[in-house]
Amino acid sequence: MSEQIFNPNPEFAKDAAINSMDAYWELQNKAIEDYEGYWKGFADEKIDWIEPYDTVLDESNAPFYKWFSNGKLNVSNQCIDRHLADKADQDAIVFEGDKGDVQNITYAQLSERTNKMANLLKNKFGVKKGDRVVLYMPMIPEAAYAMLACTRIGAIHSIVFGGFSAEALKDRIEDAEAKVVITADGAFRKGKPYMLKNVVDDALSQGGESIESVLVVKRNNEEITWVEGRDHNYNELITEESAECPFEPMESEDPLFLLYTSGSTGKPKGVQHSTAGYILWAQMTMEWVFDLRQNDVYWCTADIGWITGHTYIVYGPLAAGGTTVMFEGVPTYPDAGRAWKMVQDHNITQFYTAPTAIRLLHKTGEDEPKKYDLSKLRVLGTVGEPIDPPAWKWYYEVVGNSKCAIVDTYWQTETGGHMISPLPGATPIKPACATFALPGIMAEIIEEDGTPTPVGEKGFMCITKPWPSMIRTIWNDPERFKKSYFGDCKKDGEPVYFTGDGAMIAEDGYITITGRTDDVINVSGHRMGTAEVEAAIKKHDSVAAVAVVGKPHEIKGEGIFAYIVLKCVDDACEDLKIEINKVIKKEIGAIALCDAIAFVPDVPKTRSGKIMRRILRSIVKGEAITQDTSTLEDPSIVGAIEKIVKEA
Ligand code: PRX
Repeated sequence: MSEQIFNPNPEFAKDAAINSMDAYWELQNKAIEDYEGYWKGFADEKIDWIEPYDTVLDESNAPFYKWFSNGKLNVSNQCIDRHLADKADQDAIVFEGDKGDVQNITYAQLSERTNKMANLLKNKFGVKKGDRVVLYMPMIPEAAYAMLACTRIGAIHSIVFGGFSAEALKDRIEDAEAKVVITADGAFRKGKPYMLKNVVDDALSQGGESIESVLVVKRNNEEITWVEGRDHNYNELITEESAECPFEPMESEDPLFLLYTSGSTGKPKGVQHSTAGYILWAQMTMEWVFDLRQNDVYWCTADIGWITGHTYIVYGPLAAGGTTVMFEGVPTYPDAGRAWKMVQDHNITQFYTAPTAIRLLHKTGEDEPKKYDLSKLRVLGTVGEPIDPPAWKWYYEVVGNSKCAIVDTYWQTETGGHMISPLPGATPIKPACATFALPGIMAEIIEEDGTPTPVGEKGFMCITKPWPSMIRTIWNDPERFKKSYFGDCKKDGEPVYFTGDGAMIAEDGYITITGRTDDVINVSGHRMGTAEVEAAIKKHDSVAAVAVVGKPHEIKGEGIFAYIVLKCVDDACEDLKIEINKVIKKEIGAIALCDAIAFVPDVPKTRSGKIMRRILRSIVKGEAITQDTSTLEDPSIVGAIEKIVKEA
């Protein structure tokens, strides 16, 4: 299976944006020969500049690279206004609620609603260019209006995924020193209302003193508590605002948004993205990787709380003038055919989701896709984690009817957009393989000193030249930015961007991502730092020490497994496991709950006190221990832990 090659469907390929490997190489060779000229060509063609830039790439303060310096643009203009001349009546967003309610929002309506929201933020709450606005929102169109409204007035949004706890929300508000929170009373999931506003209340009762106002969208109309003077009703206030709001001319390098993601310490990193470079690549990859065309209806199932939702639900599709679907619910409710019914009902042409969702849809409804008309589909995408061959095969054969391209897109919060991915009209695809770097992206698999890793061996996945949509810094922590991404690998003596992932290149140049090389676990395509989970667990009074590792999981890809050393051995019981998970839920959110916990007498440590996670990973996978255990402080602990895990 893994060596089978699937050529692009000739019927689809003939009109594709990049329609052959020759066309791919023409672009990539141009980038290799004249890197700045290559990017200049696209920046001039794609961006609606208010004022021209003077430098394509400024490397004088590496790794704090600048792209298109001194140019002026506005992302909400790029995504809305410039389309109004010919697309005013085209759907920009098609929203489907959990209960099946549908709203079609045209570009003209998107413009009005974004402008009203922008006026509200500006006039009522005094939000100015550079202010931070936190969004804690469900998947409703108002979330997109809020993002675009922020960019219109130059405010920096920071979206916190709705599954994060009050504590996590408070930490993110405080780190960004945000002025306003935009939230909703709640929304609907699996036919029932769930609540969000109460989490904001909790967060703000614990801290977040910089917040002056909370704007609440009424979605489920459940009862909520109200803090007079601080909380404001969006649905009422918005009717008073004007639908005219001039956009703020923004510098290319002005921050567009922050998005917190996990790293190797307990504290999440506020990844800061720029304005021009980000939107350029969001638009280009939308056009190339999804081959977006006139009349297409594109659906990405991510949540706007993650980078995929930012780039490929809102910014990419709208910058490219497409129609993007937003879905409030879950793809298996009310039954396992929901996602496929939506593909049929909305005439979806591109469908983009995570391997976790594919595995779940496969498991819960293997034949469901056959019950619906999926004939409009042209491109199927996956993101967030490696896809296993059986899931790939089902996606290709049953969902795509063996005629759609599958784009296995490899990228990260920090890269802003796709880095390595097939092109649907050009790339002969190998299942479960990210294939080639996109044109303009210099991805190399190297050793720490920059020597190329031999074919077929695992090396470090690096991007050896800066690219427009790259992370600019970590909010308030430039040193951590340098250390996290430019501290491990060098090429020609200069630090280069290291993704944190391992990868392998085959004889024919195909790249396969082998997974994280650091202590980050990928749960359902979401990044979780082991240190973050460990820090939460340590808050429980009974815990003396803890080590968290990823354990292969049938649906989620990886689940979280915790080895816990208790202060008092006699406390070990099932109830304590439940209590510990409650602490995690409070500190981080339900997404970080442990699938399993083992109480162990100690964790394997070297004499210098370093936890040997590799041993713990092997134990949880049931693998034989091949590592040298003689350097451990107490080698006998390995056998003891193995016995406990086996018996659990
Ligand atoms: O390990 C890689 C994995 O997801 C990580 C990035 O996570 P995050 O920043 O949350 O962004 C997820 C959505 C872009 C990467 O370091 N990853 C992402 N895409 C793939 C992948 N692993 C294998 N194959 C992919 N296609």
